Amino acid sequence: MKNIIFLALIAATAPALAADLKLPAVHGHRGSRGTVPENTLPAFEAALMGGADVLEFDLGVTKDGVVVVSHEPKVTPERCLDAGGKRLDKPVPLRDLTLAQLKKYDCGTLLNPKFPQQIEVPGTPMPTLDEVFELVEKSGYAAAPKVEFNIETKIFPYDPDLSPSPEEFARLVTDVVKKHGMEARVIVQSFDVRTLRAVKKLAPAIRTSQLTYESLVDIVPALKSAKVDIWSPNYKWITAEAVREAQAAGIKVAPWTINTRKEWDIAIAAGVDAIITDYPAALVEHLESLRAAKK
Ligand code: G3P
Ligand code: CA
Repeated sequence: MKNIIFLALIAATAPALAADLKLPAVHGHRGSRGTVPENTLPAFEAALMGGADVLEFDLGVTKDGVVVVSHEPKVTPERCLDAGGKRLDKPVPLRDLTLAQLKKYDCGTLLNPKFPQQIEVPGTPMPTLDEVFELVEKSGYAAAPKVEFNIETKIFPYDPDLSPSPEEFARLVTDVVKKHGMEARVIVQSFDVRTLRAVKKLAPAIRTSQLTYESLVDIVPALKSAKVDIWSPNYKWITAEAVREAQAAGIKVAPWTINTRKEWDIAIAAGVDAIITDYPAALVEHLESLRAAKK
């Protein structure tokens, strides 16, 4: 209830937005999930084309230890077709597949009914982390030379067989980041603080971001204890007070996943540093219109 009252208050102040403008960075969630099948190279290209500041995506690890881009720790019937173009009967754990086996699935044909603007990209395999860096390194889009990467270790304490140990996961990810010299452009995010602590030990130059789902009492001491650089809460729980408190402790705030103008404006009024959205191009456009209104 307190949260609803707060959001109503913020909404009431939204028209004053342009006067005191501090605009957030744009993170393309799973690339550009609103317009292209999630976590695919075409989704990352769409985010680059739209001018995103950061590519957000999720990581898993294959049987042969390759870091790949997937929201689920499994190839799922909702996202991918099998090598013959048929629907899967059941999900297949990434940890049961070598990279060569995984590359046979088509993860670009099935569209997500929650995102009616999605356009199919048939025959698109699940990418590796390495391939996302390569795509950006070779890309001619204006956003590419500076774009950053907000990469999430999907790890499940209640189901440890679906991923490597936190330490091993952190090592595999940081090895790929280091190979590309991308430490300064990478944020490793997770709901699971263990990988964040492990990343800080292995590569202190890589920023870490603690994801949270629920409203938490006294989050800032926990964030400080985990030595994270960024707090990434479910947007439903942000308050201007919590944002200020985190920022006063030197921690940036990047809520997820915000997809409407009204909610973007509420987050901007709350003073967030970044917004994670399924529609990065539309958010970039919206921020440009706010900038223009300020002039
Ligand atoms: O980056 C935050 C957000 O991606 C967390 O939720 O489930 O989309 O990975 P999820
Ligand atoms: Ca994510």
